[in-house]
Amino acid sequence: MALTRRELLAFGVLSGGALLVPLERSVLAAANISRMADSELPAPFTVPFVVPPVAAPVRSAGTTDYYLLTMREQAVQILPGYQTRIWGYEGSFPGPTFDVQQGRDVVVRQVNRLPSAHPTLGYTPYTSVHLHGSASLPQYDGYANDVTYPGSWKDYRYPNHQGCRTLWYHDHGVHHTASNVYMGLAGMYRIHDPIERSLPIPQGYYDVPLVITDAMFDSEGQLLFDDDDESGLFGDVILVNGRPWPVMKVERRKYRFRILNASVSRTYRLQLDSGEPFVVIGTDAGLTAVPQPVTTLLQGNAERYEVVIDFAKYKIGTRVTLRNLSPRNNVDYTHTDKVMAFDVVSKASTPSKNSIPKTIYPGNAIMALTPTATTPTRTLALVRQGGEWTINGETWADVEASGFTRALANPELGGVEIWEIHNDSGGWHHPLHIHLVDFKILDREFDRSGVRVAPRAHERGPKDVVHVGENERVRLITQFTPHPGTYMVHCHNLVHEDHDMMGQFTVGSGGYDPITTAPARPLPAPDL
Ligand code: C2O
Ligand code: CU
Ligand code: CU
Repeated sequence: MALTRRELLAFGVLSGGALLVPLERSVLAAANISRMADSELPAPFTVPFVVPPVAAPVRSAGTTDYYLLTMREQAVQILPGYQTRIWGYEGSFPGPTFDVQQGRDVVVRQVNRLPSAHPTLGYTPYTSVHLHGSASLPQYDGYANDVTYPGSWKDYRYPNHQGCRTLWYHDHGVHHTASNVYMGLAGMYRIHDPIERSLPIPQGYYDVPLVITDAMFDSEGQLLFDDDDESGLFGDVILVNGRPWPVMKVERRKYRFRILNASVSRTYRLQLDSGEPFVVIGTDAGLTAVPQPVTTLLQGNAERYEVVIDFAKYKIGTRVTLRNLSPRNNVDYTHTDKVMAFDVVSKASTPSKNSIPKTIYPGNAIMALTPTATTPTRTLALVRQGGEWTINGETWADVEASGFTRALANPELGGVEIWEIHNDSGGWHHPLHIHLVDFKILDREFDRSGVRVAPRAHERGPKDVVHVGENERVRLITQFTPHPGTYMVHCHNLVHEDHDMMGQFTVGSGGYDPITTAPARPLPAPDL
């Protein structure tokens, strides 16, 4: 039986009186187990960096590649000397990276072989896999209630007609997304296209995923989950590709890093200790028109940034560290100001694909959208109300109670709209994510000053998540294509999403039903 948070509260499993005690103590009280001492954790920059494995299709036919992923529990070494139970796609955390060429269809068979209960929270880990950044049909989009129970499977179809971009796949099971993703159910997915391949930017070996998460461990090395009374989960250990504060050996040349903040709640403000800039060349939904050098990079949950770092500027033997200038509304620990390090160890082994052109990827249709006097505007207000996180006062429970018909918006198919996202309360930031579409951030207003300022330098590319800080109002413009259907919109602080800052919108009419069109089926599965 899956227990809801309310049931757990009723059983006294979670601490309700955590508001006045420091987070660390509330964790101890809630989980009734102690957090691993700092002295047991590895020193930062001692664990070698790794890249996640790459997914390989089991077969290809015509324009379609077929993949098989099994979600299962696995004991892995995250902290030296400990075996940690994770849940991973193919038992890997992060999951295997997909490298897909634009125009190839992909079918991923997801088999849920997770155990019947979460090790401490006790719920049954049903799953729903979302490919974040893909304009997938509703039945393949990881709709929260389109769930696959342990012992079942589902085939997901991805069109990959979009331009090159950094996507990621992660669990989206209703009310358990935070703990499922925290257990390890997340991986990167890259679409490549001919324009990208023709560019002189780093590619292949020099195109490196950095999946950043935070975690905390009990004294046995197991993951501790505590969301501090549904506010957020902030770990004391920063992981990159599943390794604590790793150190990566680099050549004296340019590298392209695809930075994904896959943390449950933590926002980062990244900076190189050398003071050198990151050159942002890509945002959530693809490459930018022009490069944007920035010295700090604010990155909320689920945002992706492609940055180029040029290590040719350093002598062999130099160590460059990637720091986190923790922004407001995060919980800090001893070493959460560090992410990873780069050791410059050798000269460049190849001179090719080692520059950043002045123009990278012009012509993105979403970036060409501009508001007119008649562009419809909708407001989404993000507020905590009656102990629940809501959008315009509504929650996912309202969607469920309506038989999945209630929607925050019903844009026309092909319609262009401005969405204005309000976070009028202090104390919280909300990274808002809209499924299906890419958008362009128009401007941001602070403290209801009436003054709209341009988006930050690194946000000037196609996006699907926008970080809405406290007392901020952000306007974005988007077009509702390429097909009708019902899609989720939610805060990507996964704790907020689960409780219950998620709604939906319906594009046009007559789209496929997200739950009944292609439901999961019990194992065994037929041949793929
Ligand atoms: Cu990355 Cu609805 O999620
Ligand atoms: Cu998404
Ligand atoms: Cu939020």
